[in-house]
Amino acid sequence: MKVVKDITAVQQISEFYRCTGKKVALVPTMGFLHEGHTSLMLRAKQENDILIVSIFVNPTQFGKGEDFDKYPRDIVRDFHICEKSGADYIFNPEAEEMYGKDHFTKVTLSNVTEKLEGDFRPGHFDGVATVVTKLLNIAKPHRIYLGQKDAQQNAVLKRMISDLNIDTELIICETIREENGLARSSRNTFLTSEQKDKASVLFHVLKEGEKMITREKITDTEIIYEKVKNIIKEKSPDFQLQYYKITDNNSLEEIRDLNGYTGEILISLACKVGSTRLIDNIIFTK
Ligand code: PAF
Repeated sequence: MKVVKDITAVQQISEFYRCTGKKVALVPTMGFLHEGHTSLMLRAKQENDILIVSIFVNPTQFGKGEDFDKYPRDIVRDFHICEKSGADYIFNPEAEEMYGKDHFTKVTLSNVTEKLEGDFRPGHFDGVATVVTKLLNIAKPHRIYLGQKDAQQNAVLKRMISDLNIDTELIICETIREENGLARSSRNTFLTSEQKDKASVLFHVLKEGEKMITREKITDTEIIYEKVKNIIKEKSPDFQLQYYKITDNNSLEEIRDLNGYTGEILISLACKVGSTRLIDNIIFTK
């Protein structure tokens, strides 16, 4: 496994493999890797010849007052995890290499970026779309692998890849969870063990929503929202639920009446647990 910090070198490496008919995969990450990332790397390696993992805490996707400085980092541990998971190359640039002294270009999407997270993290998806466009132009992968936990990010990137005719296939892999259902996330490191235990309520209310729709055949989403709010109030009164929304998985449009709805349903939530903000979701059909 080689660690590369230089954009041109990665472009040349990828070009070389593409010319020799090899399939190149990219797993983009912000580091502090966990089992979710490992599962992406293992799958990417299994389905492709060459695996490039990018590790870059992208400053442009963090808003003012967010946790960019505090974001957990442990690059040496990350290198070991990547090596064990079959990575061939790690792209680990400095911010200056990625953005230079000045950077005038931004990739901005409307609509899908404005809902859910959009209300709480304005500008976040501009940063994500911009850095992922850059990573795709740098690593030139045939396939890019991302976890389902960031459902809106996936919807945004799917749309961006389609709208801009980018020749990369986006593969979304299932969310890896702790035993109690908590979705694995680099930010879980900020939780105390008590908060981690109590955070099992988040997956519980997602499953509860699914159950109410698929088994109890409830079609009025207000009934579900009410029940979920009460469960959280009762089990974890100190949690601050920022949103819990039932939407179409592609357009992210809210579904208020599920009567006759046949598409993929995304229930997603964001919740502040102490000073840590967690997101999670579940995707299913009726
Ligand atoms: O999901 C992440 O870790 C980041 O948003 C990504 C895709 C690596 C872009 O910085």
